[in-house]
Amino acid sequence: MLDKDTRLVVISNRVAVPKARGAAGAQGGLAGALNAALTQTGGLWFGWSGEEHPDPAVEPKVGVYDGVTMATIDLLPQDVEEYYNGYANSTLWPLFHYRIDLTAYERDFAMGYERVNERFAVSVAPLIKPDDVIWVHDYHLIPLGERLRERGFKNRMGFFLHIPWPPTRLFVSLPYHERLVRTMLSYDLVGFQCGEWLESFLHYCRKELGANVDEQTGRIDLDGQTTIARAYPIGIDYDHFMAQGVTGEARQTAQRVLSSTRRRTAMIGVDRLDYSKGLPERLDGIGRFFDRFPERVDDLVFIQIAPPSREDIGSYQQIRALLEQKTGQINGARSKIDIVPIRYVNQGHTTAQLFGCYHACKIGLVTPLRDGMNLVAKEYVAAQDPEDPGVLILSMFAGAAQQLDAALLVNPHSPDDIASNIRLALEMDRAERKERWEQLIVTVRDDNVQRWTENFTGDLATVGRLVGGG
Ligand code: G6P
Repeated sequence: MLDKDTRLVVISNRVAVPKARGAAGAQGGLAGALNAALTQTGGLWFGWSGEEHPDPAVEPKVGVYDGVTMATIDLLPQDVEEYYNGYANSTLWPLFHYRIDLTAYERDFAMGYERVNERFAVSVAPLIKPDDVIWVHDYHLIPLGERLRERGFKNRMGFFLHIPWPPTRLFVSLPYHERLVRTMLSYDLVGFQCGEWLESFLHYCRKELGANVDEQTGRIDLDGQTTIARAYPIGIDYDHFMAQGVTGEARQTAQRVLSSTRRRTAMIGVDRLDYSKGLPERLDGIGRFFDRFPERVDDLVFIQIAPPSREDIGSYQQIRALLEQKTGQINGARSKIDIVPIRYVNQGHTTAQLFGCYHACKIGLVTPLRDGMNLVAKEYVAAQDPEDPGVLILSMFAGAAQQLDAALLVNPHSPDDIASNIRLALEMDRAERKERWEQLIVTVRDDNVQRWTENFTGDLATVGRLVGGG
């Protein structure tokens, strides 16, 4: 825990400025989590406004909302293309999600990434005070710590990666991989979502950089610099989420789902429309289930909420087209005049509406091919009726599976495995559902976003001293 006189400075690509706060959309887990973290501690949040400008100002626009100062800058269109659509989301994102087949290795993208990290450093530097603790987030901004150190900042500085860290043999396909990782060692503390990503990172540091790595403590020593790397599983803002659940909006949404599904069991998926989420594979699993049990179309309906994301990138356009095709095929083959097995919804929803949907659906289907953590799985658990909870089917390749092992764990690549687990979930008696849920809810409630913030910032305060970082 940081002492209350220390200011936390959070830097991330995306900032949840109030117009987007709690709003329907596809902001992903990061913005919501950081919003909760900063509301708890107060402080400064710096990042991209999400806007392009032909001649963007260096000075950020600043506003104060609920005790949190939010400072944002616009970016040049070319920078958005090469940094955000390019290196961040066409190079690092696919590679870190093990999709080497979708990874672009473009030099212009790498240069745009360097440029924007430099721009972030130039714009945020005047806002940083000597005693601030700085916490940088996610793959967009890995080199930022080094850019700030070059400017003489001695503050305690931490970095958290919200997505997986890939195995070394994949990661070395990135040109200048060594340079990127060396910039990570400018931070005092580096956090990952789970032990698996941490292990891959430590392995890389030892094998490729020749660093001295202590696997027990996560201490990495290289060229006189020390960094600590640890796993800090992120959680949901449990109290806020539960408060949304008792609103009229949540109740009405649950009612809409129930009355429109009548006696059928509703199963739900909620994901940004991203290839890492395993959506076509999920539909193949559902298709397999109906192939095996065609009569069950009378008692199972699947609701997939998938707000579009990163729409300027070709691989995202392709996945969208594929999903439309697969949904159309299954619905065409299995619908009856009064029954449609899959409802495919591209709109975003508010937190209250999502709570209502989760609550009304007796199966939660969360099957990413790779995911840093996955907070939908945790929200689904939180929204269940304790007396009659639904069943969570969770990919074994989500970071969340390492904590939520009382869920039904599936291989998201296998349509047969998905189909079998849907059947298991449909037939699971209430006693087993309760037993599993009671285990899951303890983690979801206790390992919440507030604890995550306290753990990370508390360690950052300590390791800062350990490595003499100020
Ligand atoms: C993931 C990333 C976040 C990102 C979010 C939404 O959760 O880890 O950094 O903000 O997706 O993606 P977007 O590109 O819309 O910010």
